Amino acid sequence: MKKKTIPDFINMKANGEKVTWITGYDYLTAKYIERAGMDMILVGDSLGMVQLGYDTTFPVEMDDMVRACQSVRRGAPNTFIVGDMPYMSYQESDEEAIHNAGRLIKEGGADCVKLEGGTDLIVQRMKAITGAGIAAIGHIGLTPQFMAQIGGYKAQGKSADAALKLIDQAKKLEAAGAWSTLIEGVPTVVGKAVCKACSIPIYGIGAGSQVDGQLIIYADMVGYYDDFCPKFVKKYAEVGKVLQGAFTAYVEEVRSGAFPEDDKHTYKIDAEQAALIEKMIEE
Ligand code: KIV
Repeated sequence: MKKKTIPDFINMKANGEKVTWITGYDYLTAKYIERAGMDMILVGDSLGMVQLGYDTTFPVEMDDMVRACQSVRRGAPNTFIVGDMPYMSYQESDEEAIHNAGRLIKEGGADCVKLEGGTDLIVQRMKAITGAGIAAIGHIGLTPQFMAQIGGYKAQGKSADAALKLIDQAKKLEAAGAWSTLIEGVPTVVGKAVCKACSIPIYGIGAGSQVDGQLIIYADMVGYYDDFCPKFVKKYAEVGKVLQGAFTAYVEEVRSGAFPEDDKHTYKIDAEQAALIEKMIEE
């Protein structure tokens, strides 16, 4: 499988082909994702909640993201990887934004970075990062790093005025050099309006079907993360239930002596040597 490039994604938009995109945070999962033929993997700062057990994404550090990108890259060498810029890794200055975006590419092995927000300051950071030659994706709508300002995990763009604001943000991010923008948590018609207003690919998570591709959080769609599940998620598996069943059965079988079975789960030994060892034990 050949790794897709940004020109491939731009052609896909022109041809009306949908891009498939999913989050991934580790080597093992990335292997399965690549085998499925996924177009892109987002090493999202959602790793803070999904992998590290925080309540929000705020505590995630650059080192967490770099390590996760490296792990995903080892599992998916031929998939386009987007590294997410964690909270306060790009807000403070253009220099810091360029430095940290560069780390995700240089140390993490990501192909591109993503930053949240559509304010003038974030547009400026987008300009700085892309000006430094780093490919970047915008992220607007329900942006968890802006949770306090947007009032929690709530759908966005639910009025014509709010939709116009999102269109304006997407256009500014495009002008600042974003090759794509992700829109999260908006009604289908708003996803469609943003998509029509921009020339670059617009991908959606919880933004309906009328965008250029879909992103989903892998741990939600396989039924692994069970603290909560957003309305826009479709579950394709119940991995959590499978794991729970396996762990519970193991606990029961070890306690009852049903596992391990000596003729199945241990190494073979010559009968004569085994008899000698038994004799040694007795003595
Ligand atoms: O971190 C992440 O997984 C994200 C998605 C929620 C869009 O940014």
